[in-house]
Amino acid sequence: MALRAVGTTYPNPPVGAIIVKNGTILSRGWTQPGGTPHAEIHAINQIKNKKNIEGAHLYCTLEPCSHYGKTSPCVNKIIELKFSKVIISQLDKNPLVKSKSVKKLRTAGIKVVIKNFGEQVKILNKVFFDSLIDNKPLITLKIASTADGKIATNSHQSKWITNSISRMVGHKFRSLNECMIIGTDTIRKDNPLLDCRLDGLNNRSPDLFVLDRKLTLRKNLKIFSIKNRKIYIFYSDKVKKKIFKLKNIKYIKINEVNNLLNMKSVIKEISKLKYTRILVEGGAKLSASLLNNDLIDEIVWFRASKIMGSDGINAISNLRIDNIDNLKKFKLISTKTLDNDQLSVYKKN
Ligand SMILES: NC(=O)c1ccc[n+]([C@@H]2O[C@H](COP(=O)([O-])OP(=O)(O)OC[C@H]3O[C@@H](n4cnc5c(N)ncnc54)[C@H](OP(=O)(O)O)[C@@H]3O)[C@@H](O)[C@H]2O)c1
Repeated sequence: MALRAVGTTYPNPPVGAIIVKNGTILSRGWTQPGGTPHAEIHAINQIKNKKNIEGAHLYCTLEPCSHYGKTSPCVNKIIELKFSKVIISQLDKNPLVKSKSVKKLRTAGIKVVIKNFGEQVKILNKVFFDSLIDNKPLITLKIASTADGKIATNSHQSKWITNSISRMVGHKFRSLNECMIIGTDTIRKDNPLLDCRLDGLNNRSPDLFVLDRKLTLRKNLKIFSIKNRKIYIFYSDKVKKKIFKLKNIKYIKINEVNNLLNMKSVIKEISKLKYTRILVEGGAKLSASLLNNDLIDEIVWFRASKIMGSDGINAISNLRIDNIDNLKKFKLISTKTLDNDQLSVYKKN
């Protein structure tokens, strides 16, 4: 249930909930878009006759909330509807909630059990805790390359290196992330929309963060025609230029390091806006910049069974590594064959 909500719930975590009575599932819920209602309330809302809930058990992937935010505390509803037992996979690390809800439920006479539902739930919750406590959103780098690691020809042709199945899975990754970062050159060369074009998931296109250090992007580019997603433009604090105003576009000043926008400051700004999952689709310089700052948490790498040769553009530009001990190390998590392409998923070691 929680997995259904991934990519849609920020600034809240994706949570799943199931209501069970006498061995029968009465209802299931997951955090709704924008984070409201929470999973428990979504599950409760599915049950017409609330009296049936008395004595039921509630399973939650995360401790229910006990504070007032956009919604009133879920524990109040759980107590009011007389659940007899709540089974929680993990306590919330949010200081506003941590163990407080469990205490409140127990004081109200409801039995509470903390029971680990498994690694998948832990990983989901960790993404939320990392962004809440350490201001570190999960950053996924997506690359679509030839077998020899080239992402475009030297004349910047990149459509299409990988096959239609890879591209479809690529769009799924867009739907699982709340926002994307994109380099100026990719915007200029490809003029992309960076939306999710899967049937039924069209409303899950991520918000965009564009690196436009010198504010040189032309306003007739496709991204400037987007109306229903938030767009942020990062530009250098050295630039003194008039900014043009569009309703959904915001500008954020960033300091420079070696004639590039400071990547650590960029991520800090994104985290201040409470995004928890960022997808990066290149280009080569942006990917290198993030790797150089050790900011990439996972890589999803689609490789076509095609060769381009050394005149193509490398997936990742110069990392200035001259000692083998300094290679950027990742752990191979899975590989999948997608017709004649291969998808490898790596996690930071
Ligand atoms: N197959 C794929 O998966 C894929 C995906 C994306 C792109 N591509 C291809 O990649 C090519 C573009 O890649 P690229 O490497 O030339 O450019 P890029 O990474 O898209 O953009 C780099 C530019 O962004 C600006 N920038 C500002 N701060 C930066 C920072 N901290 N780190 C990196 N860049 C920063 C710089 O321009 P300023 O000097 O103007 O600030 C820099 O030259 C295109 O041909 C595109 O088709 C392929």
